[in-house]
Amino acid sequence: TQTINHKNHLEIGGVDTVTLAEKYGTPLYVYDVETIRAKSRAFKAAFDHYPINYKVAYASKAFSSVAMVQLAAELDLALDVVSGGELYTALVAGYPSENIHFHGNNKSEQEIKMSIEHHIGAIVVDNFSELEMVKNISEMEQKQVKVLLRMTPGVEAHTHEYITTGQMDSKFGFDLMNGEVKRAIQFALEAKTIELCGLHSHIGSQIFDVNGFIHAIQRVYDHIAIWHKELNYTPDILNVGGGFGIAYTKKDEPQPVETLIRSIVETVIAEAEKHELGLPEIWIEPGRSIVGEAGTTLYTVGTQKNIPNVRKYITVDGGMSDNLRPALYQAEYEAIIANRAGELPEEHVAVAGKLCESGDILIQDIELPVAERGDLLAVFCTGAYGYSMSNNYNRLPRPAVVFVEEGQDQLVIKRETYEDLLQFDLSLQTPIKEK
Ligand code: LLP
Repeated sequence: TQTINHKNHLEIGGVDTVTLAEKYGTPLYVYDVETIRAKSRAFKAAFDHYPINYKVAYASKAFSSVAMVQLAAELDLALDVVSGGELYTALVAGYPSENIHFHGNNKSEQEIKMSIEHHIGAIVVDNFSELEMVKNISEMEQKQVKVLLRMTPGVEAHTHEYITTGQMDSKFGFDLMNGEVKRAIQFALEAKTIELCGLHSHIGSQIFDVNGFIHAIQRVYDHIAIWHKELNYTPDILNVGGGFGIAYTKKDEPQPVETLIRSIVETVIAEAEKHELGLPEIWIEPGRSIVGEAGTTLYTVGTQKNIPNVRKYITVDGGMSDNLRPALYQAEYEAIIANRAGELPEEHVAVAGKLCESGDILIQDIELPVAERGDLLAVFCTGAYGYSMSNNYNRLPRPAVVFVEEGQDQLVIKRETYEDLLQFDLSLQTPIKEK
């Protein structure tokens, strides 16, 4: 929760942001833990209305860190990982491996081995060459492996609309429409070391409209009915992916989580009844909608540049190195001056980052009080794909991350130092080669 205190400072989770900036420096990612708790509670409460088994898995690509994974465990969220690095983070955090599932369209042999050795909950197999690899490795290791098959349902959701195509051009998953999924199911059923637990589809990210989910589920069920007849196979688990949208700005109007989950669950129930099949366990894997709104980035305002009648730039001490989304997706954000949080906006400005790239603009156009050097700028909704897509462009050290809750703050990722930046650098050996 965010409030303005008697000093006119923005407070997050009961902690003064000016105090946080003084204590930890800027840029700084601040996560309001109560928001993360509330989001996961909302997903679960939506499912709890129905007599079905379900799993809410946190897609850790949105923000993976030891503390975040530990919080996910505390909140009884399952975990979606997409790399050996995310899996390693989860294992080091002490996260129970049977609750982890592993995604990705090109898992390495080492990643598959790691998943099998740690008995993770499921490998979500993406394509035939991976399916063969999983079979071979599990046979070699003489271990059973739980598998979901990822399908491309030919339904693609964008923020506001969705499109359906027979054949979808996607690098992910087995194609539903051309018989690939059926062949993959047959292959998995025949492999003795593979336990085929179910099917997965993911139709996109930052989705506002539930119709894409409904159509994908209906389309999948038309096929499940056929597989039931022809292969005597029905999935125990149906994972419908993540992608639930959030409001970055006032223009964004996502449907509430309750509405989305209700439609998903009711569609699955209706389809299962229509085809006289048992109910599967329903899994979802939200990332952004769990952590996005919980995160705020604090920056210190530095220089300014005014181009009369064109634009005024105010520059902050971070930018596309800590938030790539504006440069990459023209993503929009809202912000306030956190040390004068109650003041009314007075002028239109662009918020620029400090990186050597003209496209490094965090916010193209925003109304703010007149900013001065040293002011603290709070950019909201940066909790998903902020830190996780951060980088060291221009050799900027990555910012620190703090969790706040009930007036307490806790450092969960340290700020990188210049020494950290050089930890993998080696000095030039002379001569490099003999003349
Ligand atoms: N499951 C699968 C299979 C996914 O591919 C994704 C996201 C998720 C779950 C979680 O989606 P979410 O609930 O967070 O929308 N970097 C982009 C988003 C890329 C999403 C990739 N896949 C961004 O910053 O908007």
